[in-house]
Amino acid sequence: MTVHFIGAGPGAADLITVRGRDLIGRCPVCLYAGSLVPPELLAHCPEGARIVNTAPMALEEIEAEYMAAHAAGHDVARLHSGDLSVWSAVAEQMRRLDRLGIPYTLTPGVPSFSAAAAALGRELTIPEVAQSLVLTRISGRASKMPAGETLPGFAATGATLAIHLAIHALDRVVAELTPFYGADCPVAIVVRATWPDERILRGTLGTIEAAVAKDPIDRTALIFVGPGLAAEDFRESALYSAEYQRRFRGREGL
Ligand SMILES: C[S@@+](CC[C@H](N)C(=O)[O-])C[C@H]1O[C@@H](n2cnc3c(N)ncnc32)[C@H](O)[C@@H]1O
Repeated sequence: MTVHFIGAGPGAADLITVRGRDLIGRCPVCLYAGSLVPPELLAHCPEGARIVNTAPMALEEIEAEYMAAHAAGHDVARLHSGDLSVWSAVAEQMRRLDRLGIPYTLTPGVPSFSAAAAALGRELTIPEVAQSLVLTRISGRASKMPAGETLPGFAATGATLAIHLAIHALDRVVAELTPFYGADCPVAIVVRATWPDERILRGTLGTIEAAVAKDPIDRTALIFVGPGLAAEDFRESALYSAEYQRRFRGREGL
């Protein structure tokens, strides 16, 4: 018996990996993390599968599901939104499974930041303008930020920021970032990327609060901030230049 942690992707049901979909189809138990996991994915569960929404459950109750499935010899498909590597609460579940001696696997998913970048039609790294992306959040009820991981600290680098779990504190995000990036710095907010009600709001640090006041956001959203978001007049990447082709591509067979 194995627990298969699966990244369910950002929302659209066809943005799960083939491996993840096939695992769901093979597991007689499916635990899924509430409303951020698209309900269509549950249609891949085999007939008669036990399907449990873990949104209202405590970690002990989830652990009890794993123990019951283990006792019955039933594999479990455990779905979390986006990718498992960020803000999925998989770490604490794996620690409990380690203690119980229950084996598990991890199958990655499409993270919300890349789905949101696709919705914006943007590459997030732009030659000589933006070469680093910081995936971050602000302190919330569920977990505090470590002391050194502050928005001003990240802003001091000038990197592109993808700020998760923060739409309720947009005023704070704007106030903390404006001294570093300036009021003209581009901002893009992607609400529920890839869901049918996806929305995009664009502006600058100086204008975005007014834009959101006109078109309020109370749901899942990602805030991108950084000069690379609107860069048009950038140098082309050397990767496809004729000079690069001559010097490096010809050596591939060496
Ligand atoms: C608990 S975290 C889960 C992150 C997820 N593991 C991932 O790979 O993106 C939830 C936050 O991710 C962001 N998020 C998740 N899905 C999103 C989507 N479809 N569109 C925009 N933001 C999303 C929002 O900031 C939301 O508050």
